[in-house]
Amino acid sequence: MIVAFLNQKGGVGKTTLALHLAGAWARQRKRVTVIDADPQGSALDWSEQRAREKGPRLFGVIGLARDTLHREAPEIARNVDHVVIDGPPRIAGLMRSALLAADLVLVPAQPSPFDGWASGEVLHLIREARIFRPELRARFVLNRCAARTIIARETAEALAEHDPPVLGARIGQRVAFADAARTGQLVFEVDSGGAAACEIMALVAEIESLVR
Ligand SMILES: Nc1ncnc2c1ncn2[C@@H]1O[C@H](COP(=O)(O)OP(=O)(O)OP(=O)(O)O)[C@@H](O)[C@H]1O
Ligand SMILES: [Mg+2]
Repeated sequence: MIVAFLNQKGGVGKTTLALHLAGAWARQRKRVTVIDADPQGSALDWSEQRAREKGPRLFGVIGLARDTLHREAPEIARNVDHVVIDGPPRIAGLMRSALLAADLVLVPAQPSPFDGWASGEVLHLIREARIFRPELRARFVLNRCAARTIIARETAEALAEHDPPVLGARIGQRVAFADAARTGQLVFEVDSGGAAACEIMALVAEIESLVR
């Protein structure tokens, strides 16, 4: 299974959610590789920080920010249970390549009543990719949700009408994510019973229900 986190917008949580999905799978003894498709190399930075802090190895991270990704990813996937792609910010060629590689695309979005969170380049590219790959699945993941936003009050039915649909599991705006990242860790390693960890586990369960 190859899961790609893509959104042309920066700071929406592609890297954070990719690392946490990979980590959650690794803890289930799945063999996981993260492909860092971002030239900024944030996932690689995280794994180097983890190595410096002598954190136990959870999964490998490979830097592959080039548009031959779709040819190399299946090769990598052959040797592991899951590949998680941490997508690039705004490079159409790289996003297209990730879309050709992925079985499931997750689009992290920060809900806001002001900027059309449910629109933009990635959705156009998903529609384009489906011409060649009609089986490509895609979902929004709402991340950095504040407690009282308009979107939080929207009904589940209204969100389900979006295309791609919005996953029911949402991740709140929580400092635990930045705190954990600073030491190359994941939120469930720092505070396994905390709100951030619980939200991540619910998200992973919902993703697993899609990939089965
Ligand atoms: N749910 C959250 N609550 C609080 N902080 C978060 C949350 N998700 C991500 N962050 C923080 O927001 C910042 C941006 O997140 P992240 O790097 O995952 O986004 P990105 O989409 O990968 O950005 P880029 O496009 O720059 O690669 C990071 O400092 C991260 O720790
Ligand atoms: Mg990133």
